[in-house]
Amino acid sequence: MAIDLSVPAEPSADISKEDLDTPVLCLDLDAMEANIKVVAANLAEYNIQWRPHSKAYKSPIIARKLIDAGAIGVTCAKLGEAEVMAHEGVTDILVANLIVGEKKLRRLAALTKIADPIICIDHIDQLTTMSEIMQQEGTECRAIIEINIGLDRVGIEPGEPTLALAKAIHAAPGVKFAGIMGYEGHLLCIADDAEKEQQINAALDILGESAEAIKAADIPCEIVSCGGTGSYLISRKHPAVTELQCGGVIMMDQFYETECKIEGMQKALTVLATIVSRPTEERAVIDAGRKTYDMSSTDPIVLHPAGITVSRQSAEHGEILLDESARNLSIGDRLEIVPGYSDMTCVLHNHFYAFRNNELEAIIPIASRGFLR
Ligand SMILES: Cc1ncc(COP(=O)(O)O)c(C=O)c1O
Repeated sequence: MAIDLSVPAEPSADISKEDLDTPVLCLDLDAMEANIKVVAANLAEYNIQWRPHSKAYKSPIIARKLIDAGAIGVTCAKLGEAEVMAHEGVTDILVANLIVGEKKLRRLAALTKIADPIICIDHIDQLTTMSEIMQQEGTECRAIIEINIGLDRVGIEPGEPTLALAKAIHAAPGVKFAGIMGYEGHLLCIADDAEKEQQINAALDILGESAEAIKAADIPCEIVSCGGTGSYLISRKHPAVTELQCGGVIMMDQFYETECKIEGMQKALTVLATIVSRPTEERAVIDAGRKTYDMSSTDPIVLHPAGITVSRQSAEHGEILLDESARNLSIGDRLEIVPGYSDMTCVLHNHFYAFRNNELEAIIPIASRGFLR
């Protein structure tokens, strides 16, 4: 007997959400496209370019949609993700990460033959090996300096260390100095609006001052990049910034809405689940737990039916609590859930089931999932 993998061979207008077995990751194309339009317009208003981070959607098909809507390229977290994008024809790629080790640098050199990647450097040691290998491979690759603007993750300190590194990159054969970046990720969840704006501006001033110092040394500094979904509405207004990396915003999730207070966007990403057990009157268990959607940092919500709270997850079971209005639900009934964090949800799935008006329009591979090297 053939194994039913529950993946329709082809999308079809005859397939609706109700036809799919659960748990399943769904994308509402109208909602995502509306979000893309809003962000593109919000950035165009301040003449800021958009290089949306792909770490959540991980799909060249979606990347191309973004480029069609005005994005200049994509941001990736890993070299392997950039390779997947490049093989599907997306060429202007920022790998917002440090690339270390000969194996990866040789792959980076190969990538420059089919795409125009940019990678980050925050230490002279990364530069030395990169320059050697790019020369050996007869190529050149763009690099930007990642500066610590307060996140205290990676990033060289601003001021003299940044300027010295910019001079070294500018002088290094095989490496083309393209600018600077910083990530204001530590400031996304500040509750007070004025305080959030003031602290983000202060962090981005560090990028502005660094760019000025580099230009004063006669080194072109074309790119000043930063920004995530939780900060982009503020960061887009900073005069030093040339491009932003916000990406998860196209699907939205509960983290961005409730913790980062990003309003007015549509929830494009949902998980469908089925009630598989009904242990007590007020408690039910669904077929979707920690391995299906994320609630580690922010609580998910149940879009429908009403009156349900997700209370606990184990790997493959999700416990839900039912208000009085929802106690008529029984085994076999279905729920639609908005994950806490889209990024950590998409990585658990192979495909987005992409719907428009409840008709299955596409099955989009989450193609660079697992490309961690
Ligand atoms: C370097 C970098 N840029 C941007 C982002 C923001 O991405 P998103 O807009 O998808 O939240 C992150 C998030 O972790 C990041 O690490």
